[in-house]
Amino acid sequence: MKIAVYPGSFDPITLGHLNIIKRASRIFDKLYVVVMKNSDKNPLFTREERVELIRRTVVNFPNIEAETSDGLLVKYCREKGATVIVKGLRAVSDFDWEFQMALANRKIDPAIDTLFLASSEKYTYLSSSVVKEMAKYGADLREFLPREIIDDIIAKVLSKG
Ligand code: PNS
Repeated sequence: MKIAVYPGSFDPITLGHLNIIKRASRIFDKLYVVVMKNSDKNPLFTREERVELIRRTVVNFPNIEAETSDGLLVKYCREKGATVIVKGLRAVSDFDWEFQMALANRKIDPAIDTLFLASSEKYTYLSSSVVKEMAKYGADLREFLPREIIDDIIAKVLSKG
């Protein structure tokens, strides 16, 4: 059984993330989407809230599970029996950092590889930060967010002023 992990901040999950999740779920028997801590970011949603938002969007995919973990990514992969980390690449600007992370993770555990999926051209500009900014100014979010979670994102962004 081929198991993979798709890690990220997912603050919140966007249609760009969901596109990568769906494609990865066709490649692997089991995909864990894991909300992790990025020390460089100050998230809007708690990790539990982010997991719940992801769960709602992948409810119809039996081989996808959403969880959170506050440890090392490779340690989480080992616990799950996963040998592959899936990452989405939107543009060259993503590459330097993602490449560095992939090398660091492989250094810690050479048995775990990182697989990069090219983002769909529809979503190359899309990020959780852009979505939060748009929500603040009342933009139509249907092209950016899974429908099931749009109202929650707007409510949270507005509640934070
Ligand atoms: O969506 P993001 O913010 O680009 O995701 C980054 C994330 C959460 C995947 C990364 O920060 C991470 O792997 N955090 C867990 C701690 C870890 O294992 N760091 C890498 C080795 S130093």
